[in-house]
Amino acid sequence: MTEKGHEAALETLLREERVFPPSEEFRRQANVSTEDIYEQARRDPEGFWAEQAKSLDWFKPYGRVLEWDLPFAKWFTGGKLNVSYNCLDRHVKNGGDKVAYYWEAEDGEQRTFTYSQLLEEVCRCANALKELGVKRGDRVAIYMPMIPELPIAMLACARIGAPHNVVFGGFSPDSLSGRINDSEAKVLITADGGYRRGRVVPLKANSDEALESTPTIQKVLMVRRTGEDVSFVEGRDVWWHDIVPGQSAECEPEEMDSEDMLYLLYTSGTTAKPKGIVHTTAGYLLGVSYTHRLVFDVKPEDVYWCAADIGWVTGHSYIVYGPLANHTTGVIYEGTPDYPDRDRYWKLIEKYRVTILYTSPTAIRSFMKWGPRYPQSCDLSSLRVLGTVGEPINPEAWLWYYRYIGGERCPVVDTWWQTETGMIMISPLPGLTTLKPGSATRPLPGVEADILDEQGNSVPLGGGGYLVLTRPWPAMLRGVYGDPERYRQTYWSRFSGVYFAGDGAKRDSDGYFWLMGRVDDVMNVSGHRISTTEVESALVSHPQVAEAAVIGQQDEVTGQAIFAFVTVKGDVEPESELGEELRQHVATKIGAIARPKQIMFTPELPKTRSGKIMRRLLRDIADNRQLGDTTTLADASVVETIKEATSRAAVTGEE
Ligand code: PRX
Repeated sequence: MTEKGHEAALETLLREERVFPPSEEFRRQANVSTEDIYEQARRDPEGFWAEQAKSLDWFKPYGRVLEWDLPFAKWFTGGKLNVSYNCLDRHVKNGGDKVAYYWEAEDGEQRTFTYSQLLEEVCRCANALKELGVKRGDRVAIYMPMIPELPIAMLACARIGAPHNVVFGGFSPDSLSGRINDSEAKVLITADGGYRRGRVVPLKANSDEALESTPTIQKVLMVRRTGEDVSFVEGRDVWWHDIVPGQSAECEPEEMDSEDMLYLLYTSGTTAKPKGIVHTTAGYLLGVSYTHRLVFDVKPEDVYWCAADIGWVTGHSYIVYGPLANHTTGVIYEGTPDYPDRDRYWKLIEKYRVTILYTSPTAIRSFMKWGPRYPQSCDLSSLRVLGTVGEPINPEAWLWYYRYIGGERCPVVDTWWQTETGMIMISPLPGLTTLKPGSATRPLPGVEADILDEQGNSVPLGGGGYLVLTRPWPAMLRGVYGDPERYRQTYWSRFSGVYFAGDGAKRDSDGYFWLMGRVDDVMNVSGHRISTTEVESALVSHPQVAEAAVIGQQDEVTGQAIFAFVTVKGDVEPESELGEELRQHVATKIGAIARPKQIMFTPELPKTRSGKIMRRLLRDIADNRQLGDTTTLADASVVETIKEATSRAAVTGEE
């Protein structure tokens, strides 16, 4: 968003005066309903986290709560525990009949897993991984659709101490191989394919292509999901149904150190190469279970549904680890909200009597566009808490969600966090916080955030600037895999001594945080982070492209949409077929989520004297264009604007 766009958006937000205190009824039953917890955490942060850590089951107690050697943190040092044990065994010990997951397929097929069934499946899979040669410390790549075998595979890795590296099933073969190679994974777990709106996503074919350039992969474990014919490489490929069901349903959990790596998850930054975000064992599990309990006010009888894909951090933290550690019953849905019809989510809520729903602003804006008649045709009276994540939510969407989905009785928690933070950081507590539509409200107890100006001074209430986190927190990333310098540079160098989140934010006079979107070259499309540089390098890898500049354009539904300015090589005719080809080229290179919505061919790109692309100008140009055709040729006025700006920059040296 441009500076002006931000200002205008904020004006509207801050003029939004409706506030929503929790109802007395909700407050009375809430897990947290008084302010004390904030004060306790502030007074003695380490004591506070130590108190929370009692909720975990330790094989061996830890020594120190925190060792902080800025920017490197170690939490609960010396402690021994196992994440899958905490998510499964300790609940099963007290009777394992509670449902862990209701899984629903796109075609309506259902599978239910109690905690004891899930534990058995996890043990079988863990034993199979061992048979395939996976040892403690080996990385396992996972590239799967939203089927139960996905969380089973993750928990199996956690059980034997092999960090997983889940790659979202919508990513391309190139993206998959890049992530496998960076993490030097030994085994890949995948499926023949997955379903998306009735069509098959060819995961195995993609994997085969990726594996042409991944020397570290020795075995491929493959689930049969679609039943299509797929290739089978003797000696490398193994069907899940041939090796997993015959295994013993018992597998000793490894005693892991608090700081052993639990998983790696890649996320886009400001360069073309995604970063492997490292999460470890104890602090992460504590962070996600603590926040899950507080933010969603989870109770034993809840039916909780986080509608994200497990391939992103939201799924890791709030479909798998947080909810299972809290012994929650969850719903996992394989498909999209509009398949076979636009009432699919509401039908699921009615069917499973879902009490807590966690989804994204993009999804909510789509629901708004489709109209209230879909939710109105279903019984949503079981719902009691609603959550959102991934992007700023506009007050209109917030109010719509509150009204049409929550029936004006469910608090809406807007949760701000990141792959790097591992856990929710800024969010209301539903039994305590007075909600303001569009604001993530305040940092959670134990979390401290601030807003800084360019010089690193804290901005007084009422002002805006850069969002930073000022204390270490248990679920924080421990680094960028294999690159400590990049970790320091990316997160800890912009301002001294604090973590820079890459987001802009303002604080109103009550101290409420209003997130304003990224301030770096990262776009947020439907709640997914995509790097402008990554898309630019995909475009430039096309033989007919000379140069490309990519920006996020404001979009009614997806928050931002990818807008690419492209200059072609001298002898090439910029035509709409080429535009289509380039959009497809990016999808093939990175994945469909990175496909530009619009391509504009320009004879040149506006640059400063030092050769930096003037993105702000491109954003202004893009924001004045309606998205109609997906390819356009820059008209005379755009060319003039670009020329003028470039010559002005040359004169003034403007950056
Ligand atoms: O810009 C912020 C936005 O999403 C980014 C983190 O993206 P990712 O690591 O993919 O994790 C997404 C799910 C946690 C942040 O830097 N973001 C996330 N939640 C919010 C948000 N922006 C505004 N409001 C939110 N609630």
